[in-house]
Amino acid sequence: MIAPPRLPLAALPTPLQHRPDLGAALGRKAFWVKRDDLTGYSWGGNKVRTIEYLLGDAEAQACDTVVLCGGPTSNFAALMAAACAARGLATIQVSYGTEPDPKPAALAAGEAAGAAIRYTGSPDRARMEDVADALAETLRGQGRRPYPVPRGGATVVGAFGYAHAAGEVRRQLRQVGVDAVTLVIPVGSGGSIAGLLAGFLFNFEGDEKETPLDLELIGVSVSRPPEELREGIDAKARACGAGRSRLANVNCRWELVDGRGAGFNHYDSDDAAFVDDIMRCSGLLIDTTYNGKALRWLCDLLPETNRPILYWHTGGSLAVADRLGTPGHPSPDHKEIK
Ligand SMILES: Cc1ncc(COP(=O)(O)O)c(C=O)c1O
Repeated sequence: MIAPPRLPLAALPTPLQHRPDLGAALGRKAFWVKRDDLTGYSWGGNKVRTIEYLLGDAEAQACDTVVLCGGPTSNFAALMAAACAARGLATIQVSYGTEPDPKPAALAAGEAAGAAIRYTGSPDRARMEDVADALAETLRGQGRRPYPVPRGGATVVGAFGYAHAAGEVRRQLRQVGVDAVTLVIPVGSGGSIAGLLAGFLFNFEGDEKETPLDLELIGVSVSRPPEELREGIDAKARACGAGRSRLANVNCRWELVDGRGAGFNHYDSDDAAFVDDIMRCSGLLIDTTYNGKALRWLCDLLPETNRPILYWHTGGSLAVADRLGTPGHPSPDHKEIK
């Protein structure tokens, strides 16, 4: 696909840090962290990269209203609302269920940025896209120019953010002399890993000097069974890379593993103790929804390896504040159906 226009928002490149302290806490030797919690727009996180392309595309199409899908704890929805407000676009967030109590910080932040929230009244998260499409149609009928976005911004356009992130980390790995690595990243909608996969398989960087990289890419699915996501991720990666040459020197294998544990948005006391330990020893903020689950999988289930491990930190600081500020949060009201 031809690259959609990018609206620069993020402070890039994000740091690649050698973190033997975290490696030791997780029982691993060579350990690196890609700090996409530090993308530098609003409270940061992986979705800033996605939003650069979604909003670039929405503006190129002269859209005036983003109609996005996102539950009450959606970091994507809150960040998109903030970016839309700054660019003068209206935001309507379609959320599943009914208004939650207590209100998660992500939802409050989206509202503070001006997002209007529409609840579907159904606990079925998959309903959100249908409701958003119908709403977009109604808006078109009223002469508005809506830009509908599915959960997590997981479209081929949104995937370009992470396709370029793959090039960014390849350059950083080359600089520190790492040519074989196991990369672990949390997966929700699958949009970010689809972009990464595209960026490791195809050339998005034009004149880039290719040095060999042997890459094992592991996505830890935190909300859906991996078999529900695999095909969609693969298809998005291929659509994103279509028309580009293959990277001859990158050997990339990928897999998706099940890291749901206690269920999406849920954690048990072991999970809480685990993230608290990591936060204490590393100075990193670790949410229980995404990064806590992915690190737990890495710690407990990633087979022993001599290869360096690269953990991709995706942010989630609002959920950290939710959990620490309201113990037991998210409430059972947010219980997911899957
Ligand atoms: C903090 C954080 N990490 C990881 C993810 C998962 O990213 P993706 O939906 O692109 O798979 C999300 C999704 O919203 C997120 O907010």
